[in-house]
Amino acid sequence: MNCHHCGKHITQQAFKADNKYYCCEHCFLKTRDTCARQEDPYTVLAETLVSALDLREHETGMHSKRVACHTLVLARRFMSKPDALQQIYWGALLHDIGKIGIADTILLKPESLTESEWEEMRTHPEKGYQLISQIPNMNETAQIILCHEEHFDGSGYPRNLKGDKIPLGARLFMIIDTLDAITSDRPYRKGDSFDSAKDEIMRMAGSQFDPQAVEAFLAEETILREMVLNKCHMGFSL
Ligand SMILES: [Fe+2]
Repeated sequence: MNCHHCGKHITQQAFKADNKYYCCEHCFLKTRDTCARQEDPYTVLAETLVSALDLREHETGMHSKRVACHTLVLARRFMSKPDALQQIYWGALLHDIGKIGIADTILLKPESLTESEWEEMRTHPEKGYQLISQIPNMNETAQIILCHEEHFDGSGYPRNLKGDKIPLGARLFMIIDTLDAITSDRPYRKGDSFDSAKDEIMRMAGSQFDPQAVEAFLAEETILREMVLNKCHMGFSL
């Protein structure tokens, strides 16, 4: 059996969606129109940088690509210009790239962090900004990275920005990041349902999240629910 996207022969495990088989979830996501224009050199560069972070964090690499695709679902409700959408895709993809500059003893610590370790961890948006703002054509991407831990009510970090002072791409990303965090399996717990994530997101409208972004989330509930559900086919054995 071959992957429906890249044609690669599937040897062990397949990702099944829409009755088609893919060698991995990323190949499936690439067939969705929400993830268009993924093959340009900047995107390849961005995906390679994310892979470098994944090597450090011992992650499988799907979280960043998944949240980038899902953030685009919301972004398309606010804009249609490919260049603007591309910046949001890159920003969501590279949101945590600054963690490359966090010490192993903190980044990989299994126990909870001390206050001084949190202080170091909270420098990751600025570290990511410093790294990515050097790349031509990625200015808005760098701004999204800098603001991805801010909250709509000003209670986030690093600059306690409020409301529309936070770039739209970051306001949309925050919702998707929470959706992904709640619905994904972790080594210590099973992922919760889409409905639990939806309740949490609605509860945080106006505090952590932009109410307009939450409205967009509710309007796109059907497609997002399908995308989250499809992820659950990961690990399907042939
Ligand atoms: Fe982060």
